[in-house]
Amino acid sequence: MKRSTIKKLLNTKPEGQEIVVKGWVRSIRNSKAFSFIVINDGSTQTDLQIIADDTLAGYEEFSKCLNGSAFSIQGKLVESGGKQPIEVQAISIDIIGSTPQDYPLQKKGTSMEFLREIAHLRPRTNTFSAVFRVRHELTQATHKFFSDKGFYNLHTPILTAMDAEGAGELFRVTTLDPNNLPLDKSGKVIWEKDYFGKESYLCVTGQLEAEAFACSMGSVYTFGPTFRSEDSNTTRHLSEFWMIEPEVAFADLDEIADLAAEYIQYMVKHALEHCEEELNFFNKFIEKGLVDKLKKVASSTFKKITYTKAIEILTKTTKKFEFKVEWGIDLQTEHEKYLTDEHFKGPVIVTDYPKTIKAFYMKQNEDGQTVRAMDVLIPGVGELIGGSQREENYEKLVTRIESENLDPSLYQWYLDLRKFGTVPHSGFGLGFERAMMYITGMSNIRDVIPFHRTPKNIEF
Ligand code: 4AD
Ligand code: MG
Repeated sequence: MKRSTIKKLLNTKPEGQEIVVKGWVRSIRNSKAFSFIVINDGSTQTDLQIIADDTLAGYEEFSKCLNGSAFSIQGKLVESGGKQPIEVQAISIDIIGSTPQDYPLQKKGTSMEFLREIAHLRPRTNTFSAVFRVRHELTQATHKFFSDKGFYNLHTPILTAMDAEGAGELFRVTTLDPNNLPLDKSGKVIWEKDYFGKESYLCVTGQLEAEAFACSMGSVYTFGPTFRSEDSNTTRHLSEFWMIEPEVAFADLDEIADLAAEYIQYMVKHALEHCEEELNFFNKFIEKGLVDKLKKVASSTFKKITYTKAIEILTKTTKKFEFKVEWGIDLQTEHEKYLTDEHFKGPVIVTDYPKTIKAFYMKQNEDGQTVRAMDVLIPGVGELIGGSQREENYEKLVTRIESENLDPSLYQWYLDLRKFGTVPHSGFGLGFERAMMYITGMSNIRDVIPFHRTPKNIEF
């Protein structure tokens, strides 16, 4: 008989029909003439209780199995008098895989730090299976949101020769032997001898390639892994993270700021609708008030202010910051936190940053000082989205590339987009794990990605 998932059984009317269910033991409680076995198969947050009579074949063995063992159970699906609507009266139980004493996941509270060390087993906990069911739902929601709006999904390259953010946070890709590098007379590596014939890296963004397709297909979006070697050991930074990057031709900054707010709200509503059980669980055990917070965000308009205004707010408050506030600084976490958590008490979109702290491709404003950039800041997490209107003027872009000391020859194809039928266009990047943090209430970014990569950490 084919196995049913617990999720499916919960949607089945219990009429004593025979079913097969397979999963991992959460607990076994033995009483006089029978055992209560609780299993979970990951299909849903809800566990399933099995009642096993001591007359069943193999009772001696399976009733002594430890948590974490895998069972196959054939039984009758019946109504339950307990917490769950259904339970199973076992007809036969097979041990698929037993577990010895040293199973690391014991009933007692296990810390998030410890669970990171056993990242291969943590999806067996309630918290992590819930996190990754939500992650699945938000992935589906993302594709649906953009597809319904007529955006085309685009798979941009992961290997690249360009520092597309100009921030120097690249992971080098090479097939050269580090112990036997081809060197020229002055001791410099001859990159022409490397695999791609030039210095190559993992991508930090798919934006530049997405621009090429926006400037032909209109509206596109990417959803892929990106890599940054920034040395930030914080609760909000990963070396490998997933980013969603929509890019829209003929759109200005205001248009994509609206798109950003709509997309965030769409994800939040989707989670409220499709992940009720998980969100209630997080609301109880991870972040008190989570569900109310999400409901409020789903229905409120996002505040929008310029960077200059943000600096004004930060200068006027009596709150003391560690980093000095003055026009021209990059906003620090404490500043962003003040704006979202204390001043606006909700998400805020900050626009028109000084050009000196933003990437080369952003559209320069008339004032010569600022660019048409935006960051979407959200409570508890900080920067969720970075985006901009792109510089569509060929000369201005060349000048900027040169003044940033980037090699213009690498950007020739990108400049071509400004040479042949150039149009205003805009886009943004949303850090998927930061959205996950906000929607689940999980406070460390390492706990919302299946296997995290951070400095000095590449286990699993
Ligand atoms: O602001 P960023 O660097 O923007 C870009 O990459 C643009 N190319 C996007 C675009 O306009 N198409 O990154 C975008 C978002 C950030 O707002 C943040 O949410 C996330 O990506 N992010 C990270 N998430 C986790 N770990 C890191 N190290 C991150 N760096 C950026
Ligand atoms: Mg940014």
